[in-house]
Amino acid sequence: MNPASLIPLAEPIPIHWAWFDILLIATFAAHVLFMNALLGSAVIGLAHALRGDGGIIREAGKKLPPLLALTINMGVAPLLFLQVNYGNFDYVSSVLMGGWWLAVIAVLLYSYYGFYAYKFKYDTMGPRLRTLLFGTSLLGLFYVGFMFSNNMTLMLRPEAWTRYFETTAGFLNWSDPALYPRFLHMMLGAGAVGGLFVALLGQVRGKDDMVTTGMWWFTRTTLANLAVGVWFLMALPNEVLTALMGGNLPATLTLVAALLAVGGALYAGFKGQPRQTAGWAVATVFLMACVRHWVRALYLAPWFTIESLPVTNRYGSFYLFVGFLVAGGAIIAYMLKLYFKSRQGRA
Ligand code: HEM
Repeated sequence: MNPASLIPLAEPIPIHWAWFDILLIATFAAHVLFMNALLGSAVIGLAHALRGDGGIIREAGKKLPPLLALTINMGVAPLLFLQVNYGNFDYVSSVLMGGWWLAVIAVLLYSYYGFYAYKFKYDTMGPRLRTLLFGTSLLGLFYVGFMFSNNMTLMLRPEAWTRYFETTAGFLNWSDPALYPRFLHMMLGAGAVGGLFVALLGQVRGKDDMVTTGMWWFTRTTLANLAVGVWFLMALPNEVLTALMGGNLPATLTLVAALLAVGGALYAGFKGQPRQTAGWAVATVFLMACVRHWVRALYLAPWFTIESLPVTNRYGSFYLFVGFLVAGGAIIAYMLKLYFKSRQGRA
């Protein structure tokens, strides 16, 4: 069977595709930053708690429910933009994963309530139950992340979709050698940014031990991630790898820029400067999100090019979107201003 026959016809889009791609990359980078702070600080807190130091898990634990809510909110936006430009691939992979994919909602609910209970019932729960609840909620986050890695890689491989005709159950992208380093790369990134989040939290709370521990996690996991990044590159299909190694100049330059930003982050990290490191880390995540986008385009090149999408040039809904974005952003900025002012008054 020709897998191309399984790709649905692309729907027309109202405005130029580049708008959706830019919004997709920008909102995805924000999603990843929140997800990293959430998952990474939870791992670090639990690792230290299991060794008898409960300070970080208590401090980070207070931030997990809002971080999870923000991660989900900042995930909805890229999901919508992804479906606009790449829906004919992403809808298919979501359906093929079946129950695995649908279970994400139930697992997220469990993790959310788990972290909520951890924060608000901390004193009334026994330490064992508390740690069990925290650990299983964290496992839930790993499950969700792994499902996203499966979906985002399965959508790129229509040749793997034909398995649908051999099974009645949903399936994952196990046969893809790039899945494993990609997921590990994402999780180590979470460890690094999570460490940075712990360090910044420590700075605000005036806890030097949290700053030192957080920066330790940032630098060590980032160094390990350089090795996993090389594994990830090597696991990519040859055409994608050669494009990133000079075959496609803009893609290669994006990768070089991302690596330079990693260098800046490591330099500031080893000097023990959380704020400067945070600046470099945000730049790194954004540039790596661009590299990841190149990887998607290069994977899909034999099946689809974004330029082939029909455009209707109806800009009305876009102007409405921009209007709400600007007005909504201004209202949120005003609310934050009031919030911080009221906190200053209390201090
Ligand atoms: C809170 C738990 C979550 C975790 C740990 C998580 C983790 C991840 C990871 C690791 C990826 C990258 C996968 C890859 O490319 O290999 C990812 C991508 C993505 N996530 Fe999340 N995610 C979470 C929740 C959500 C939710 C609730 C949504 C949407 C409602 C969402 C939307 C997305 C989208 C759309 C992408 C891909 C964007 C793109 O391909 O450009 N995430 N997530």
